[in-house]
Amino acid sequence: MADTPIPLEVRNITKRFGDTEVLKGLSLQAQKSDVITLIGASGSGKSTFLRCMNLLEQPDDGELIIHGEPIRFKQTRHGREPADWNQVVAMRAKLSMVFQGFNLWAHMTLLENIIEAPVHVLGKPKKQAIEHARELLERVGLSDRADYYPAQMSGGQQQRGAIARALAMDPDVMLFDEPTSALDPELVGEVLKVIRGLAEEGRTMILVTHEMAFARDVSTQVVYLHQGQVEEAGPPAQVLGNPSSERLKQFLAPKN
Ligand SMILES: Nc1ncnc2c1ncn2[C@@H]1O[C@H](COP(=O)(O)OP(=O)(O)OP(=O)(O)O)[C@@H](O)[C@H]1O
Ligand SMILES: [Mg+2]
Repeated sequence: MADTPIPLEVRNITKRFGDTEVLKGLSLQAQKSDVITLIGASGSGKSTFLRCMNLLEQPDDGELIIHGEPIRFKQTRHGREPADWNQVVAMRAKLSMVFQGFNLWAHMTLLENIIEAPVHVLGKPKKQAIEHARELLERVGLSDRADYYPAQMSGGQQQRGAIARALAMDPDVMLFDEPTSALDPELVGEVLKVIRGLAEEGRTMILVTHEMAFARDVSTQVVYLHQGQVEEAGPPAQVLGNPSSERLKQFLAPKN
């Protein structure tokens, strides 16, 4: 399978906000079934890096290659922008993101949330989208919540619903930005369980998390960011179990 294109390749991404360069040349390669965990202190650039991967944030420089297809950029007065927004829309359909704050649409039921993009972006027939949505709801343990509105669900349920919504696009790569950090502690486990299941079925994922035990369990690779640079990266047993960077040792040390 040597000629199968790599699902996601990021080369030398830089990003500045005003005078501050927050990403200083970051690269990453997600092969099929890789689970790559990004860790690092608050402000180290994890979310910005993730957002650059699906162009919610525009990198100033660097390349993004999705399944062997480079994203095309053009220079404008305001900096660099995608040359073709249709390409970005197609790319985002392959790279589904799950945010910290659930982000289900409040005015739609859970089922409506899940079928929205497959029907309106992918043009999937509604009946088929509903069938798929029901399978996904079962998969994340929410079969009985299809007709609930987000406000009627717990945080953990909403986040599992958001994962089902992301899955409904049949993404090649899933991006998770601290999917459990807005949850009450007793609800974290149910969401991690769903994500673990996705890892076990060989989904390609990039995950920002502070759950180190979980990262160690599910990741194929852990990347430690410090001030917009990769300070250390490698298999979890090495990066989390036997780090060489002093800074990373500090970061992993128990806080009290
Ligand atoms: N839209 C923005 N405008 C200006 N500065 C920004 C913007 N977004 C992020 N930054 C800055 O970029 C840096 C990296 O932020 P980012 O959100 O990527 O960090 P993070 O590693 O995800 O942190 P956390 O663990 O707190 O979520 C921070 O210094 C932040 O203040
Ligand atoms: Mg963040």
